[in-house]
Amino acid sequence: MTALIEVTNLDFTYPDGTPALFDINLTIRQQEFIALIGQNGSGKTTFSKCLNGLFKPTTGSVNIEGIDTRDKGVIKQMVTKVGYVFQNPDHQLFNQNVHDEIAYGPRNIGLSKEKVEEQVAEAARVAGVSKDIFSEHPFFLPKGVRQRVAIASILAMRPNTIIVDEPTTGQDMRQSVEVMNFLRRLWKEEGHTIIIITHEMRIVADYAERIVVLGKGRVLLDDTTRKVFANPDVLRETFVEPPQITRLSQSLSEYGLPHDVLSVEELVAAFKK
Ligand SMILES: Nc1ncnc2c1ncn2[C@@H]1O[C@H](COP(=O)(O)OP(=O)(O)OP(=O)(O)O)[C@@H](O)[C@H]1O
Ligand SMILES: [Mg+2]
Repeated sequence: MTALIEVTNLDFTYPDGTPALFDINLTIRQQEFIALIGQNGSGKTTFSKCLNGLFKPTTGSVNIEGIDTRDKGVIKQMVTKVGYVFQNPDHQLFNQNVHDEIAYGPRNIGLSKEKVEEQVAEAARVAGVSKDIFSEHPFFLPKGVRQRVAIASILAMRPNTIIVDEPTTGQDMRQSVEVMNFLRRLWKEEGHTIIIITHEMRIVADYAERIVVLGKGRVLLDDTTRKVFANPDVLRETFVEPPQITRLSQSLSEYGLPHDVLSVEELVAAFKK
């Protein structure tokens, strides 16, 4: 798989002197589905803002599809490569109607009128935003729809990589499954690289293929979902618990059950063996 983002010896310190990230090294490839996890304050949001060039490394480097984020005047290029969907869509939506919201990014980078409309129509279609609501004010739409508009406005820039901060927070089970299945479709069918930041390990087990665990600004684990959840001791250090089904299987290991179960189906299959 092609490398999209290359992070080398990244340190980040906020302007007020708070150090937030220490010596991070990792590679993100085309069409990965990654969950970025870790307790509150571990650096997830800070790191994701380094991954889209919003924050520049204090030392080390972040290279996005061949562009060094420290270079001057590259921000316009970077927004077309990595899209960042805010935790709360209301922090992102600020235009008077849905159409202009989705068109904002493409207009801002100076695309022609035709090109803007083409990318808006495509993004709305993929995100499931109906043309019928194009003239409505985003503020008055249900939260799930606002989130789709927020995602459409990111898709309209046609980024390879999409980072979604807490996609399921404040949503019920049905809405969570809907947004996660939508992200899975962007990943599987549209070939995007998806990075989710979440505290919900059930969601991580069901959707992510790779987990990066942050603790106090450092990468503690970076491996397949199965291997990370099979490592409860390191996870405990950062107050992350594997999904309930994984823990159940781990606590029954004296009866020969595996450490790396990710779903009820797998647990049942292990019982039958
Ligand atoms: N604007 C800021 N100025 C100074 N320090 C900050 C700022 N934003 C975050 N920090 C600090 O940087 C560290 C990492 O914070 P960050 O918000 O990236 O963590 P997080 O993993 O996203 O947490 P959460 O799960 O609560 O969203 C923390 O110590 C935090 O206090
Ligand atoms: Mg955060």
